[in-house]
Amino acid sequence: MTGSERQKIAVVGGCGHIGLPLGLVLADYGFPVTLYDINADAVARVNAGTMPFEEHGAQEVLTRCAGVSIHATTDAREIEEVETVVIVVGTPVDEHYNPNLAVVPSSVSDLLPHLREGQLLILRSTLFPGTTRLVFELLAQSGKRVGVAFCPERIAEGEAIHELTELPQIVSAYDTRSLARAKALFGELTSDLVELDPEEAELAKLFTNSWRYIKFAIANQLYMIASSFGLDYEHIRSAITYKYPRAADLARAGFVAGPCLLKDTMQLAAFNNNEFLLGHAAMMVNEGLPLHLVSSIEQSYDLSGMTVGVLGMAFKADSDDNRDSLSYKLKKVLQFKSRRVLCHDPYVRNDPSLVDLDTVLREADLLVIGAPHADYRTLDTKLPIIDIWGSVRPGSVAALHDGGTISPGMPL
Ligand SMILES: NC(=O)c1ccc[n+]([C@@H]2O[C@H](COP(=O)([O-])OP(=O)(O)OC[C@H]3O[C@@H](n4cnc5c(N)ncnc54)[C@H](O)[C@@H]3O)[C@@H](O)[C@H]2O)c1
Repeated sequence: MTGSERQKIAVVGGCGHIGLPLGLVLADYGFPVTLYDINADAVARVNAGTMPFEEHGAQEVLTRCAGVSIHATTDAREIEEVETVVIVVGTPVDEHYNPNLAVVPSSVSDLLPHLREGQLLILRSTLFPGTTRLVFELLAQSGKRVGVAFCPERIAEGEAIHELTELPQIVSAYDTRSLARAKALFGELTSDLVELDPEEAELAKLFTNSWRYIKFAIANQLYMIASSFGLDYEHIRSAITYKYPRAADLARAGFVAGPCLLKDTMQLAAFNNNEFLLGHAAMMVNEGLPLHLVSSIEQSYDLSGMTVGVLGMAFKADSDDNRDSLSYKLKKVLQFKSRRVLCHDPYVRNDPSLVDLDTVLREADLLVIGAPHADYRTLDTKLPIIDIWGSVRPGSVAALHDGGTISPGMPL
């Protein structure tokens, strides 16, 4: 099919971390794509051909497609012109970890004046179970015959451009025509389509993130046990996983943060009337790691007179996304315990409190890696480096006690 024959697609939330890569990949496949977003700054940047955030390989696609097969807008009326509308707005939990059930239905309500008969609405956000049904009923009550499908996004940030065509796509809908249309669209990206009922698909997505969150918590719990006894978790983990497929997925230790894994584990807990023992236990372990790390450091250093440099404030390596990053929790604990904390990140642009790397290396007495960015692998410093991720300076817990480094780390 040529570009001009392909259906027009709008992505609502189209300048966000999930909407933009999806829009770019579809545009690169020749679909005319409209990115609708309420963030006027992000819209302007995308239309100027500049990615508003780091995503591997995305800038090249945007440069190729901007103004050709993709454009961004804050004008919801443009949605009227497309055949398929994909909604991928954020679905955060509140400060009490309660999901906001209304966020997607209210986005759909806002769009109602611009939805027209015969369109397909694909929900792509991670949803509290039952949300697809709510949207389906909302549209039915509106009298507009708009199809509804739920096709959850499962990429990892930073890997979206290739994962969108490599991962199987979960597709679900309440009627065969909407399902067929969702399958036809995602079938352009991959031949691996997995059909579920919408409620199953909603749970499948939450289970995926809870599973990962709990798995990382197991690694972190074992790391804490090992380090409490002066043993090197990474040495033990390497031995366990060596030619032993049954334990091959035992993760390295490291901060488990970002906008999804904890949030979706808590969405699942809320859905199950707050009964999710493993999910809550995982939260205690993962959220407790910064405190554990600081108390390990205190066994070797009197922090009260020291300036500590935290390197890497993003929630994962080589990313500029600092949403819900545990580096900020580490910073708060260190601010309480030490004389001064200086933070650096080569990618994060939205935190004016960050200082440049030279200042940190000149003024700090001790460095702690918050996110294991590749840039830090070539650090030229004699300062002690505490590297729980293990990717910047390999070492051991024992080395910490010699003023050296500790391992390990894991890619999220
Ligand atoms: N970030 C990830 O790694 C990831 C992975 C898989 C799934 N998800 C899910 O994808 C969804 C989006 O996450 P994200 O990280 O892209 O969030 P995000 O905040 O980066 O993007 C959401 C975008 O939606 C826009 N927006 C909000 N309300 C809007 C509205 N009413 N109309 C138009 N635009 C609106 C925002 O301005 C923003 O640009 C969430 O449900 C999330 O759980 C995220």
